[in-house]
Amino acid sequence: MNQLFFENHLHFDKVDSTNDELLNLVKNNDIKEGFVLSASFQNSGRGQRQKRWDSEFGQNLLFSIFLCPRLSVFDHFKLIQFVSLGISDFLSSFIETGFEIKWPNDILFNGKKIAGVLVENKVSGSIITQSVLGIGLNVNQTQFNLYDREATSLSLLLNRRFCLDDLKKRLLLSLQNRYRSLYSNKLHLEYENILYLRGISAEFMIKNRVKRGIIKCVSKSGELQMQIDGKFHSFGHKDIQYHF
Ligand code: BTN
Repeated sequence: MNQLFFENHLHFDKVDSTNDELLNLVKNNDIKEGFVLSASFQNSGRGQRQKRWDSEFGQNLLFSIFLCPRLSVFDHFKLIQFVSLGISDFLSSFIETGFEIKWPNDILFNGKKIAGVLVENKVSGSIITQSVLGIGLNVNQTQFNLYDREATSLSLLLNRRFCLDDLKKRLLLSLQNRYRSLYSNKLHLEYENILYLRGISAEFMIKNRVKRGIIKCVSKSGELQMQIDGKFHSFGHKDIQYHF
């Protein structure tokens, strides 16, 4: 496990999606846990909820990591937590405070999105045997299309350009450190501590209607626990959207 995320790397100029490319390698070859596949550009980068992930050629970090976590499906949320916290640790080494995790796994700075994660698991029985973690982090790009949520990048925040190779290594190190403590009791607490809008009254879309509620916490299995009109509710990823 020592240098798990540093042993096997493959970089492409262009792929359709680093997640798809890596999933193909997983299907066809005997690639090892920790394999990292990156690209300078994706023709059809994929986001959550069937959305696109667009990124200018050679400006940002786009990569996917192959893991064999052997986690119970009931602990699947630990994968999302470790990767979100790994990204947040890495970003906090540039700017100490201000990064938050928008449930389940978007990374924001002052409400603007700087990174997104797409986790795709293969389950056998009740065990997650294989997992592909796709990460898109905005680094040197300074202009973005208008998405649902405004985007930002390290370059916009710090007013300089970065070497993508160096950043990739630093980010992988942060992720590797968090993966090592996948079972740490602190993981859940730390995740909740930087949860976007936690404890704040805000608007959400629930069953096509705008509702005001307060995020209280996240269950161990990853449901968002909210208080709406004085009552407690629990939501899965597909049941609720942030309204802004
Ligand atoms: C999201 O916020 O909606 C998730 C975005 C995930 C984007 C990354 S970029 C690298 C990897 N390959 C993909 O096609 N998607 C992920």
